[in-house]
Amino acid sequence: MLTLVVNGQSRQVDAPPEMPLLWVLRERLRLTGTKYGCGVALCGACTVHLDGQPIRSCVTPVSAAVGRRVTTIEGLSARTDHPVQRAWIELDVPQCGYCQSGQILSAAALLARTPAPTDADIDDAMGGNLCRCGTYQRIRAAIHRAAALARGRAR
Ligand code: FES
Ligand code: FES
Repeated sequence: MLTLVVNGQSRQVDAPPEMPLLWVLRERLRLTGTKYGCGVALCGACTVHLDGQPIRSCVTPVSAAVGRRVTTIEGLSARTDHPVQRAWIELDVPQCGYCQSGQILSAAALLARTPAPTDADIDDAMGGNLCRCGTYQRIRAAIHRAAALARGRAR
């Protein structure tokens, strides 16, 4: 048995230590908001936070998460009210939605370390998150909007 702290809760999982964290989240803990895209760290669909840092859960063994804080889209905020989520809803960012939990987790990590990112900061932080629907322009606008919301600016 491995003990993980996922979305603020201690969880016991019966899984081999080398199993990718993504499969533990989806198959063992039924947290299916985190998606499988490529499986080789190239698309960002599986992005979650480990101690607040964005990681690709498809290539991270669950053993690397023991004793650390894992945050998924389900735990990013209590009521879907993280500034990034509010901005995403306001600007109607998703199209099919498949990539979006990874996009949101990467954006939230960016704003945690860079509260007022430039376009270049955004492109740098988000470059590994692919969107087959091409929502990149709305993502960039929503990150600027989320930064404003986080600073307490409604408009
Ligand atoms: S599924 Fe992990 S980066 Fe694509
Ligand atoms: S919204 Fe469809 S892949 Fe990004």
